[in-house]
Amino acid sequence: MPQAVSPTASEQPWWRSAVVYQIYPRSFADSNGDGIGDLPGVLAHLDHIARLGVDVVWLSPVYCSPQDDNGYDISDYQDVDPVFGTLDDLDVLIRAVHERGMRLIMDLVVNHTSDEHPWFVESRRGRDTPKADWYFWRDARPGTVPGEPGSEPNNWGAVFSGSAWRWSPERGQFYLHLFSVKQPDLNWDNPQVREAVFAMMGWWLDRGIDGFRMDVINFISKDPALPDGSMTQSGYGDGMPYFAYGPQIHAYLAEMRKRVFEPRPGSYLTVGEMPGVTPQQAREFTSSDRGQLAMVFQFEHVMLDQDGDKWTRRRVRAGDLRDTLARWQDALADDGWNSLYWNNHDQPRVVSRYGNDTTYWRESATALAAVLHLQRGTPYVYQGEELGMTNLPFDDIDNFRDVESLNHYAEMVGRRGADPDAVLQTLRHKSRDNARTPMQWSAEPGAGFTSGTPWIPVNPNHVWLNAAAEYDEPTSIYNFYRELIELRHADPVVVDGDFALLPAPDEVYAFRRTLGDRCIEVYANLTSTAAKLADDTAGPEGVILGNYPPETCQPGLLAPWEVRAYRLVSASASHSTGRPATGDGQRIRGGGGMISGPGER
Ligand code: NOJ
Repeated sequence: MPQAVSPTASEQPWWRSAVVYQIYPRSFADSNGDGIGDLPGVLAHLDHIARLGVDVVWLSPVYCSPQDDNGYDISDYQDVDPVFGTLDDLDVLIRAVHERGMRLIMDLVVNHTSDEHPWFVESRRGRDTPKADWYFWRDARPGTVPGEPGSEPNNWGAVFSGSAWRWSPERGQFYLHLFSVKQPDLNWDNPQVREAVFAMMGWWLDRGIDGFRMDVINFISKDPALPDGSMTQSGYGDGMPYFAYGPQIHAYLAEMRKRVFEPRPGSYLTVGEMPGVTPQQAREFTSSDRGQLAMVFQFEHVMLDQDGDKWTRRRVRAGDLRDTLARWQDALADDGWNSLYWNNHDQPRVVSRYGNDTTYWRESATALAAVLHLQRGTPYVYQGEELGMTNLPFDDIDNFRDVESLNHYAEMVGRRGADPDAVLQTLRHKSRDNARTPMQWSAEPGAGFTSGTPWIPVNPNHVWLNAAAEYDEPTSIYNFYRELIELRHADPVVVDGDFALLPAPDEVYAFRRTLGDRCIEVYANLTSTAAKLADDTAGPEGVILGNYPPETCQPGLLAPWEVRAYRLVSASASHSTGRPATGDGQRIRGGGGMISGPGER
């Protein structure tokens, strides 16, 4: 096996020091008053993103789509859906992003297409068409009435409720759809499918984009036997062991790398969304010499508040969060690379979920931001997170739009007779629509997102929680994110420093980052009550970033959701490990102010 060689800082790929900002175009900014965000809307607000200091924009799907899953069901990979604009608008946007010194990556959704994609339309036509084998088609279970419930080829449940199989009378067979019935799974074992996907990816790279976020990419290789899974509380079998991380996953991603990325001169950001990925697998996918991707999105820290399935709530302790985050830091410490995220278009808002969106709204949003951004890895900011946007107090099923949420409600209330209020309560906490309410630009009606009727309700708190209110407020969440991003860009210890967990009470996440003789320490109270630290641990001296006024900062005590980052100088830092021995670090006198500049760098 070849020896892994760690590149020096100057040889590091560019995305290691980058911060990514995700745009969900439907909810970002509407330029034409139809209530749906669009590409000209994104263009008009690009400076909001550039001012944050981020390096990369990740654009969620804008391809042609029937919008069953808001664009994650694609019917034409090489055109823009009219609801978002035109291909010309996208070219203009790519140029505008590059002119501002940023890069742009697109979503790659190739585990499945829309059922309206011409590939599927042809495949469904019959067993003799050239694309007959481009999807997973199977006969009904022997001994059953084909097409009737119970005749499905296996017992897998779909991620969006119900069976993962849909009967096609036209073809007289079932097709597999791991997500909605309108998202049939592509058969990657067919080389023609891989060829078509790779050609399409190359077309986009040649158009000027800088990489891809790859939707559920660990699902593209499945166990060809498609065996029954063990039964779950949903009443269906769990197919995950068979459809995730299948036997060809590394081979297909290696082929993609060889065919799509290696022949091109650029250096691209590739991030694979991988539900269920383990730290060991993540290391293999992202190893600097043998890996196929720059980084992956893992899910452990966003599954801590669920028990079994997504809809069953579990209480999360600060210590659980800390242990999970630290475990991933350790697992990818000497090879591979982490992505760091709290939010995206599938997750409820972090300040409502793991923070405190009432009494300690600003404090918890900033503490969570700081611990995420000061870890090792590439941080992702999801639109509105930089403002501290919260979940919506949904009180009626009619206000939801998400196919997953609506299917869940129909399954539970319609088919299983569950109490509608109880189901609504779980949706209020976990629905993806919490992330999809319109971006809050201003206090105006429509939150400055649209002059028309928004496609999904605007959060009523936009009257005080909005971008316009935060730009000039020095202690705002937006400005705290700017400071964090600036610190990462200015100080290599944030990008490349080793990570070590520091001893602290359960409610505190404390860690040290070390690079040669550079060192920072971070102490964050992840609860709404004050937390005691060891008496000699931390006072106001040397704080380079914090979320409370310096005059309130007490040695040995962290206020609710208080975070402090210190810079240490260590004369005795060991050059062999790059890590000072515990206790050798000396805090230096820095700005000491709340959200102070990154100090002496
Ligand atoms: C993961 C995406 O993030 C989600 O929004 C989508 O619904 C599914 N994959 C299916 O594409």
